[in-house]
Amino acid sequence: MPTDAVNERDGLLRVVALLRPQWRAAAAAVGLGVLVILLTNALPLVIRHIIDHGLVPRDSDATTDGLWLLLGLAALRWLCDIVRREASGGVGLRLEADLRARLFRHLLSLDVGWHSRVESGRVLSLVGSDVRIIRAFVSYSALFIILNSLTAAAALTQIWLLSWPVGLAATCVLPLFGLVTVGYGRRTFAVSATLQERVAALATHAEENAAGIRVVKGLGRENEEIRAFTRRSIEVREQNVAASALQARYLPWTIGLPEIGLVLIVWFGGYLTIRGSLTVGTLVALSTYMALLVWPVASMVGLFGSARRAAASAVRVFEVLDRRATMTDRPDAVHLPRPSGGASVTLDDLCFRHPGGTWPGLRRIRLHVMAGEHVTIEGPGGCGKSALAGLLVRLWPPDSGRLLVNGVDVSDVTLASLRGTVGYVPQEVTLLHGTVRDNLLIGRSMATDAQLDRALRLAAADEVIHSLPEGLDTVVGDQGHLLSGGQRQRLALARALLMEPGILVLDDALTQVDMETGRRVHDRLGELVGTVTVLHLTRPGTARHRAGRVVTLTDAGVLRDATEAGGGHR
Ligand SMILES: Nc1ncnc2c1ncn2[C@@H]1O[C@H](COP(=O)(O)OP(=O)(O)O)[C@@H](O)[C@H]1O
Ligand SMILES: [Mg+2]
Repeated sequence: MPTDAVNERDGLLRVVALLRPQWRAAAAAVGLGVLVILLTNALPLVIRHIIDHGLVPRDSDATTDGLWLLLGLAALRWLCDIVRREASGGVGLRLEADLRARLFRHLLSLDVGWHSRVESGRVLSLVGSDVRIIRAFVSYSALFIILNSLTAAAALTQIWLLSWPVGLAATCVLPLFGLVTVGYGRRTFAVSATLQERVAALATHAEENAAGIRVVKGLGRENEEIRAFTRRSIEVREQNVAASALQARYLPWTIGLPEIGLVLIVWFGGYLTIRGSLTVGTLVALSTYMALLVWPVASMVGLFGSARRAAASAVRVFEVLDRRATMTDRPDAVHLPRPSGGASVTLDDLCFRHPGGTWPGLRRIRLHVMAGEHVTIEGPGGCGKSALAGLLVRLWPPDSGRLLVNGVDVSDVTLASLRGTVGYVPQEVTLLHGTVRDNLLIGRSMATDAQLDRALRLAAADEVIHSLPEGLDTVVGDQGHLLSGGQRQRLALARALLMEPGILVLDDALTQVDMETGRRVHDRLGELVGTVTVLHLTRPGTARHRAGRVVTLTDAGVLRDATEAGGGHR
């Protein structure tokens, strides 16, 4: 979804801004890291002291004192390092958990229309890998980009202070090193971005085949799918080979160049030592500082690579977080009181078409349904029944006209109170992997057994429960696939009834139930006349309420009263 693009730099800055609530811990991590650097930097000086004032003059007391000092500093550094790692790890993990929760909350607030357009794989990778990559940046790469720069700067400063000619030599070697680093970084980023895309495509392929296993088998597509998957898998391998080849070409340079630098320093420094302008201790200290310089600089390639990956993830995450939901509570939204005896529903010149939809749309729909009345709205496929049902629970807003519940415009009430009043049974049943009971209690976890029994009986789902081996404790399987379509639909109806809604909206919700059972469901729902308003949106030819009013929604999006015209009582 292209929005006002967040650029990568802003993305990273915003990630850093997310640290504000735990700035103390973050500052402590950096502070301890700096302490570690200072202690590390002191070690070569102590070594120099031991050599020049202990070993060379053969003073064993001075040597022992120096060694104790060395040991003490090393132990202190070790301790600081442990605390620093805990601090920075904790900061990253807290940020990860907070960001993931915030992202998830935001995803649930976004419009149904947005979710319909975005592949579920992208949503999965947002809350999964993108958030993880951002965490790795916070607790590792960002910190070490700072600390390693400081380490390198401190080591180089020490080299200059100990001997400016050697410092000059070391400073000349560094830019060469930078060139290799930058070149490798640039190439490796492109290669690993492609690799990530290919791995994601491979995962999506596996996921789609698992979810659509019935289609794959039913159409006999196994061999094609296996071939396609193998092809993708080979693409992943080839990209991995390319990444390894790149490493093979560059990494030896990142290790080799500094070693050449080290040799140059020992050579040049050694010459100065022989001439007497450097002590042996200073030469050892210089080569130790040079060694200290190598790793921070060499690791920058990887650190900048992961920072860029984090930037790309941050862009994806913030693009979603910046997207505003349109279906939210207005600031002055009122609470819709729970109606007793059902609620009236009025469609007042309602017009609607999905954004980008090519169908005629719902055109100036007018209908008044009295509180407790049961009305069937019949219409052919594609005429806008689901569109109308969605308007009733405010999944999307009407283009014009109003929709009133008990005389109150639904756009003036809070979403929570509206959705607490309207029991919506969507066309596609969604059951979660778990038991029948888990699925029924989703909307009302504290329901009593009596309430559960009543809802099941009204939906004629009690028969379903009796036919299941473990009754309410039967596991429904992935997406409820261990049950038949009709069984799933009756459970979904029972789930909505359990919430004791004032208005029940059935969107083609009994299409997979056989005619006989469908009639039984409607007979039982008939008991609710006068207490619950029922709007049954259905295509012609399915079972419906025997006595209620029937209106027809035409495929031109116009509503007609069909009861008079002999729509009949089936
Ligand atoms: N998200 C969408 N975006 C654009 N058009 C849509 C969308 N969903 C459904 N449509 C189109 O809107 C029309 C009405 O769809 P729908 O309300 O689902 O019909 P029904 O439920 O009566 O079968 C159809 O032509 C369908 O193709
Ligand atoms: Mg529909």
